[in-house]
Amino acid sequence: MKIATILGTRPEIIKFSPLIPLLDQEFTQVLIHTGQHYSYSMDKIFFEDLNLRSCDYTLNVGSGSHAQQTGEMMIKLEEVLLREKPDLVLVQGDTNSTLAGALTASKLQIKVAHVEAGCRSFDKNMPEEVNRVVVDHLSDFLFAPDENAYENLINEGIPKEKIYLVGNTSVDACLRAKELFNKEKLKDFSLIKESYAVLTIHRQENTSSEKLKEIISSINTISNTVNVLFPVHLRTKAVIESNKINLTENVILTDPMGYKDFMGLLSNSKFVLTDSGGIQEEAVVLNVPCLILRDTTEWMHYVDMGKNLLLGTEQSGIVDSVTELLSDEEKISAMKRVKVNLNEGAPLKIVNTLKKVA
Ligand code: UD1
Ligand code: UDP
Repeated sequence: MKIATILGTRPEIIKFSPLIPLLDQEFTQVLIHTGQHYSYSMDKIFFEDLNLRSCDYTLNVGSGSHAQQTGEMMIKLEEVLLREKPDLVLVQGDTNSTLAGALTASKLQIKVAHVEAGCRSFDKNMPEEVNRVVVDHLSDFLFAPDENAYENLINEGIPKEKIYLVGNTSVDACLRAKELFNKEKLKDFSLIKESYAVLTIHRQENTSSEKLKEIISSINTISNTVNVLFPVHLRTKAVIESNKINLTENVILTDPMGYKDFMGLLSNSKFVLTDSGGIQEEAVVLNVPCLILRDTTEWMHYVDMGKNLLLGTEQSGIVDSVTELLSDEEKISAMKRVKVNLNEGAPLKIVNTLKKVA
């Protein structure tokens, strides 16, 4: 069987990292990069850090509006898929690359498999929610990371024969690379283990100039109590620079990092403040309390369990929650004590399922 695996952004490279070598072993795999992420620090560094083979096609689509980016990806993907004639297209997550891959394949009547199917924030203002819903309804094989995702798909009327509860490849990506995490990286920033917070912000909803100013103002206040390390996504960097948004000297700004450095710093941190989807999952694997800078999340069960905390994006909510957390060590300890079953082994389950049913 010939499988075309499509990726385009940093989380897709990371979450596909344990699957790509397995797919190469078991099938003929054509690896296609849309080029949605293209800067070294958002793209190539992950292939190096995760020892991944190079892609067979790079479509160099780059940045643009949603329609431009998705449309250009579809035009270029159609050409490659017509040439390669795969039996199946494999996509992951909820980006425009995921949507373009699934939509192009289904219009060519090629079967689609979706890794991380069924996640829902129930917030259609997120471009990712639109992508997730459309991709799931186009897919022939849906690999759900957990029971919540499985139930979401059933509730939307997707036949259960198409859904496979396999776990989360992010867990395996993390465990596969764990030995490589750079736990010494904190010394470069003169930080002390478990005495600093990591911050990431990049969601479209959080990077309008007004919203970003409000979030950063809260971070400036928090940084009077705890040092904050902020590896800045390139979308966010552009907004900070063009609006001349000021950060205090206790907020350490750096470029986006590779996986080994980032995960080394995350694992040594006291807590993480983030609007990332992937970091919510990784924080659970590393047992680092995760404070979510969003109103909704597609990983709500971790919040319901008391493992992660949903802060919202209003200044008062963020500052009050962090102040409360920092004033009582027991609150952080309680979050760390919540046990989560990580359900390792998703990549192998996906490959074995495809061998049987696709
Ligand atoms: C995309 C995904 C989002 C995912 C994120 C992972 C969509 C709709 N969004 O958001 O779900 O969480 O990737 O990081 O697919 N840029 C660069 N160099 C790069 C990449 C981006 O400079 O290599 C800058 C450009 O200014 C670009 C902006 O970042 O316009 C946004 O990039 P884009 O890929 O459109 O969206 P992300 O915010 O990265
Ligand atoms: N990440 C990284 N370096 C950074 C920031 C994030 O390696 O400077 C990794 C992080 O470990 C996670 C992934 O990037 O695996 C998350 O990507 P992002 O937050 O951009 O996207 P999302 O998960 O929200 O789609």
